[in-house]
Amino acid sequence: MKMEVASLVLRSPLIVASGVLGSSGSLIKNVSENPSVGAVVTKTVTYKPRNGYENPTVVDLGYGFLNAMGLPNPGYLDYKVELASIKRDLEVPLIVSIGPSNGEEAGKMVEALNSVADGFEVNVSCPHAKNLGLEVGSDVQTVRKIVKAVRESTGKPVLVKISPNVTDFVDVARSAVDAGADAITAINTVRGMAIDVNAMKPVLSNLYGGLSGKAIHPVAVRIVYELYEKLEVPIVGCGGVYDWKDAVELMLAGATAVQIGSAIAYRKMSLNVFNEIEKGIIEYLTTKGFSSIRELVGLAHNS
Ligand SMILES: Cc1cc2nc3c(=O)[nH]c(=O)nc-3n(C[C@H](O)[C@H](O)[C@H](O)COP(=O)(O)O)c2cc1C
Repeated sequence: MKMEVASLVLRSPLIVASGVLGSSGSLIKNVSENPSVGAVVTKTVTYKPRNGYENPTVVDLGYGFLNAMGLPNPGYLDYKVELASIKRDLEVPLIVSIGPSNGEEAGKMVEALNSVADGFEVNVSCPHAKNLGLEVGSDVQTVRKIVKAVRESTGKPVLVKISPNVTDFVDVARSAVDAGADAITAINTVRGMAIDVNAMKPVLSNLYGGLSGKAIHPVAVRIVYELYEKLEVPIVGCGGVYDWKDAVELMLAGATAVQIGSAIAYRKMSLNVFNEIEKGIIEYLTTKGFSSIRELVGLAHNS
């Protein structure tokens, strides 16, 4: 089950996706002790502290979650202190997610966080934060500037997380790779809305949010498949992975590793989902006669 993404060596290709666990350092440490977890991506940290939006910020739709948390976080300087306090005890690579609004912020954040990160994931895809995420990630030139600044500030692996909400996602990913990204994470949440029919108004305080979970899995599979045809760098698949089949599907589409977010919340924050998915993949590999998980990557393109 060992896998490499850029120069990150993962004992398992199953990665904790950004955000679902919040930003607590002690939680990251607990999660890293699960032998089926290959790496942890932190909650996205921004240049300035953010309170996030008022409740309700998350709604469970059954087939997925709709959230507009508003990227609550203590800001990169305080978060660095939090991460420094647990870094030494972590058993897996720590990928720090950053949400800069421009190249200057990106460079400063990465320089400061370099000592606590094994790699970075640049979030240019959050669909519900003003002047951040998708608002910068839908412009190819801005993405290029941000990723270039990150690249110039670190020698560690840089993943760029793209959005399904832009039609030219291949161009966005390509500009990130041209600017120095080592891998692309696909996908962040799908912009959506829910309306309370009794109250007759939108459910989320922010009105719009990002849909995650089961409902978006086919969207993730399609985007990973398309990116695999167009890019030469590893792709980390993310979106609606609830069981081993979902993970295998993303790998057959071209993902080198897989992130899991909503399934953790769906399972009431239990990490058993990682153990079950890993077990299921191993059984699948054995049944199909593969000797390594690496052999799966992109196989659906041969048909
Ligand atoms: C409550 C919640 C908070 C999230 N916070 C972040 C975040 O801070 N940064 C980020 O890049 N993605 C964030 N995401 C998106 C997930 O990392 C992931 O891309 C998305 O949910 C799709 O994967 P999933 O279906 O496995 O959840 C969040 C998702 C949820 C449900």
